[in-house]
Amino acid sequence: MKKLPEIFENNRAWAAGMTRKQPEFFKRLAEQQNPKYLWIGCSDSRVPANEIMGLMPGEVFVHRNVANVVVHTDLNCLSVIQYAVDVLKVQHIIVCGHYGCGGVQAAWQGTKLGMIENWLLHVRDVKQLHLAELSGLHDEHRQLDRLCELNVLEQARHVCRTTIVQDAWARGQALSIHGWVYGLRDGLLRDLGACFSSPGDIGGAE
Ligand code: CO
Repeated sequence: MKKLPEIFENNRAWAAGMTRKQPEFFKRLAEQQNPKYLWIGCSDSRVPANEIMGLMPGEVFVHRNVANVVVHTDLNCLSVIQYAVDVLKVQHIIVCGHYGCGGVQAAWQGTKLGMIENWLLHVRDVKQLHLAELSGLHDEHRQLDRLCELNVLEQARHVCRTTIVQDAWARGQALSIHGWVYGLRDGLLRDLGACFSSPGDIGGAE
């Protein structure tokens, strides 16, 4: 007996619709992918990379985890970045957080959630790093929104510091790292004004 029949119905309808619009679509995609973008975002079900950016299958390589964290010893994330940069030759890496992020909120409040608290310690590190600025905001909604933004900026810097990105820049490969935040309430992306295209762009204590 087939499980989750509604999902398979959805899938058949989707595949048929795509083929109607572009008969060669799946055949072409099966032969190669050529994405220009790597998206590193939150696992939150409300933040689907392709839909938000209006991109088709094949146009964005994706890595998602809770609170869009880039840890230098995370082989999963590093492997995605390395494959995207060295093999797919993406031109842009987008680190995208979102307002209303449950992971960021739990890190901020020290919520008891079990094992995942260890993962979220990386976001708590960002909070500690920027505690003076965050404490000055007083209103908790503004503090949380700002921590979402600061977390994106820190994780984008982490991407820049990987040997993968440093080596790509050293050999002259065109590669930019962007920090964005997505609004659940309006569906809009915001550019946080951080765009790193060379080692000199990162700033701060390297
Ligand atoms: Co989130």
